[in-house]
Amino acid sequence: MLHLMHLVGARPQFIKAAALSQAIYTHFSTQIKESLVHSGQHYDYRMSGLFFEELGLPKPVFNCAVGSGSHAQQTGNTMVQLEQYMQESKPHVLLVYGDTNTTLAGALVASKLHIPVVHVEAGLRSFNRQMPEELNRIITDRLSERLYTITPHSMNCLRTEGLDQQALVVGDVMYDAALSFADKAKDQALVIEGEFALVTLHRAENVDQPERLKGYLSALDQLAKQQELRLLFPMHPRVKAELDAQGIDLKVYSSFVVEEPLSYLSTLKHISAAQWVATDSGGLQKEAFFAQKPVCILRSETEWVEMVESNSACLLSPNFNVEDTQRWLNKHTVTDPTPWFGQGNAAQTILMDLLKQFKPS
Ligand code: UD1
Repeated sequence: MLHLMHLVGARPQFIKAAALSQAIYTHFSTQIKESLVHSGQHYDYRMSGLFFEELGLPKPVFNCAVGSGSHAQQTGNTMVQLEQYMQESKPHVLLVYGDTNTTLAGALVASKLHIPVVHVEAGLRSFNRQMPEELNRIITDRLSERLYTITPHSMNCLRTEGLDQQALVVGDVMYDAALSFADKAKDQALVIEGEFALVTLHRAENVDQPERLKGYLSALDQLAKQQELRLLFPMHPRVKAELDAQGIDLKVYSSFVVEEPLSYLSTLKHISAAQWVATDSGGLQKEAFFAQKPVCILRSETEWVEMVESNSACLLSPNFNVEDTQRWLNKHTVTDPTPWFGQGNAAQTILMDLLKQFKPS
């Protein structure tokens, strides 16, 4: 049996690991043994426990319980505990996902213990080194023995860095998850009535700079008023902390309807019911694109260039022009996601490849 260990810590990683875990259960249970370690980067029930319940993820065999802290604290504390645990449990392969501090910690620890690291969602680049995620991606890709990219564009990024030999384009495990959980999501209750758009913000470069944050809140509020709809805003704890610290009262932006962070199934339901989605989240922008909703990306660049090039998404800066955005929403293009994001079987492709690449001794 090949022992695969998933390392997860933040919301999008629970979704990605769930797609792999489902495929192991359905197709490879006689060849692959899985275990899951949680770094504890996300720890609130609505940011973590709820996802485990909904997605049917295996119970963590170990939780580093690192919680919040500076980048060095989060990464370093995960490393110390993970090293000790992996020395005892000796998995054949460590699977790391995306670009969080948890991902980086896993890549550093496993590679130094000579345990092969496999990176799911490799090759993403924003070319913006102000983002902590960009640094995490570059190092993780460099340390990984096998790299699974979602799109040919990501493969080109790896080629430029001389990393394409160990890489494979497989499609998106988040697309697998969106397809396989779509039916269950339909049964979820809506938390808002009438026409609405779904808005999320959480990236440090937006949230930790009050002028940027207010610039987005204000422009989105004006756009919503022109369109006579409300803005459902499931608030990430980072945003809540920043609004409190800055004394910003969301009531000023009266189109916003604040909610607790939504579960995965509820997010899928609200995307499909929304008129449009505005977000700085990498995962949510894709999920909106999968649901063929117009996506306003609240950033100056995106790793998912295909969505912008096909006119299915637009990039918006803080204090964006409301009339232009209104016009864009009226003429955006609806695009089939499969040419870029796969056929919904990315997880199976990854596992078949892993069984070929890593034979247990
Ligand atoms: C992290 C990832 C980001 C990913 C996102 C998904 C890094 C550098 N960033 O950002 O790439 O897209 O997760 O959500 O790894 N907090 C709580 N409860 C929680 C979790 C966080 O209150 O359960 C608060 C804490 O005050 C914390 C802040 O939110 O300081 C930010 O959390 P953190 O994990 O550092 O980064 P995210 O913004 O969630």
